[in-house]
Amino acid sequence: MTRPAVVVTRRLPDTVESALAEQFDVRLNGDDHPMSPGELRAALREADALLCTVTDSLTVGVFDIESCRARIVANFGVGYNHIDMEAARRLGLVVTNTPDVLTDDTADLSIGLMLAVARRMGEGERQLRAGDWTGWRPTHLMGTRVTGKTLGIVGFGRIGQAVAHRARSGFGMSVLFASRGPVADEVVAGAAAGAEQRPLDALLAEADFVSLHVPATPETYHLIDARRLRMMRRNAFLINTARGDVVDEVALIDALQAGTIAGAGLDVYQQEPSVPKALMALTNVVLLPHLGSATMESRTAMGMRAVENLVAFFEGREPPDVVAVVDSGAG
Ligand code: 8YV
Repeated sequence: MTRPAVVVTRRLPDTVESALAEQFDVRLNGDDHPMSPGELRAALREADALLCTVTDSLTVGVFDIESCRARIVANFGVGYNHIDMEAARRLGLVVTNTPDVLTDDTADLSIGLMLAVARRMGEGERQLRAGDWTGWRPTHLMGTRVTGKTLGIVGFGRIGQAVAHRARSGFGMSVLFASRGPVADEVVAGAAAGAEQRPLDALLAEADFVSLHVPATPETYHLIDARRLRMMRRNAFLINTARGDVVDEVALIDALQAGTIAGAGLDVYQQEPSVPKALMALTNVVLLPHLGSATMESRTAMGMRAVENLVAFFEGREPPDVVAVVDSGAG
């Protein structure tokens, strides 16, 4: 029997590429270049499945093809805002993602950014590497204490809850959360015990740290805009490991330059991989290149989860992680 042809858009950990090769007629991206819209269109026309990731903009234009051989798009990643779900649905494509397996690592990185920006780790490291450290002194690079402060979590899905757990149990923080939907009692009683729900605007006014964990959807586009940034406290920090589109980046730069918030720890940007020069010029920010799930453990598990979805689909079973058009894709 001929094996389904799977186009894999980026290099994946070796064990994942080997697992794919065992099951499928796999077409790997040897030089790991980001695929052009033309290459993505060709993949949909010529292969049975596409294993894609966040750097592949699967727009209406890419899905505008006369004949589509592909029947499934297995996304490597939990967020799928780079896929036009309506257009995929019109072509009859099943779309899957990779939830759960990256929750802990992304939550860890959110905490890391919070510590790094509050304790001025980026500034300190740059100073030392530049040979500008003149020695210990009581007033050197004094930052802000994290322990015992109030953390406001925006979006209380898997990753938001994992951040809440770390903040409470590791740093004795008071945790507030804002969530569009009701949150089950067992969630608030469980790992995130003691966390209190607030309307978003009230949370912004109360929190010392605001950490974003909503998916990028039309509803969350610029959720944190100039008005909401003004609601934050002057000594508060904004952490974003979700998606760049959730924050109005221009308004954020204004707020950071004007000092109406104390700083930001960012892992995601509106036009990745381009990062505004004005953001890079600021000292009160820590900037990471979208590393949320970047551990060998998570990236391997994400790949194996994509493989599981593909195997289930081609065996005629329901893939475990089908995302529907209406699903918000909350991390
Ligand atoms: C991924 C992520 O590295 O899964 C997600 O949604 O943001 C990251 O963990 C990347 O986006 C892969 O698609």
